[in-house]
Amino acid sequence: MSDQVQTFQIGDLELELQTSSEVFCPNLTTSRIAQTIEGIEGKDVLDLGCGCGPLAIFLAKHGAAKVTAVDVVPRAAQIAAENVKRHGLEDKVTVHCGDLFAPIADQKFDVIVNDVSGIAELPGRAAGWYPKDVPTGGEDGANVVIRMFQNVKNHLNPGGVLYFATSSLSNVQRILDGANEYLGQKIEELGAFRIPFSKELTDVIDELTKLCEQGAVSFEAKRSRYLWTLSVFRVQMP
Ligand SMILES: C[S@@+](CC[C@H](N)C(=O)[O-])C[C@H]1O[C@@H](n2cnc3c(N)ncnc32)[C@H](O)[C@@H]1O
Repeated sequence: MSDQVQTFQIGDLELELQTSSEVFCPNLTTSRIAQTIEGIEGKDVLDLGCGCGPLAIFLAKHGAAKVTAVDVVPRAAQIAAENVKRHGLEDKVTVHCGDLFAPIADQKFDVIVNDVSGIAELPGRAAGWYPKDVPTGGEDGANVVIRMFQNVKNHLNPGGVLYFATSSLSNVQRILDGANEYLGQKIEELGAFRIPFSKELTDVIDELTKLCEQGAVSFEAKRSRYLWTLSVFRVQMP
């Protein structure tokens, strides 16, 4: 177990954050989600799957009136609260620990930024992104995100907005089918980013190819490189 303080580029901000080998460490996905979010000034925002808190802090610094952050891993919620203090944002940001909406059962938000684990078990662990006590999205990566879709409408104010991302290292079709089934609104794709495999991912290419054949993940091969795709989506409620 080791904790350290590092500087991360999150969207247009450089943020100093405490991290730990026990929790998810902010990465390029975090930053891409941050740079895609718009219109949060004065809004009541939920950061779901907050990890050590990068998006909650980003949202608070970009004018959200109030930010609520939730993570199921107790150590992540604890470190997120410490990072909120580090940035002097305790008046604006509240952190809870629990499964999805359980700790905020009666609350509604103007904007929900969903970043709960949406990656298949094998690449999530192999890439080193998911320490052993951080849950992934299961065999095809879709389980937690679909559970989120089942309940999210109960937590959005009229006219509220949900942002969510998909990784092609999960079953994107099952996730989008879930979004269509439970949200019943137009799903707008805001951006797609192709990201090269790390060495750790390339090392498990045979296993990933099998998962790809089963439809659990997808990726592209370009010359000698492999690329996965991160897409960011927005859904606006009536
Ligand atoms: C992709 S990481 C994102 C963390 C953070 N947003 C970041 O970018 O650094 C996914 C996070 O979702 C959390 N998570 C997984 N399942 C969850 C659940 N059922 N409820 C709440 N959080 C969950 C994990 O613990 C992890 O911190």
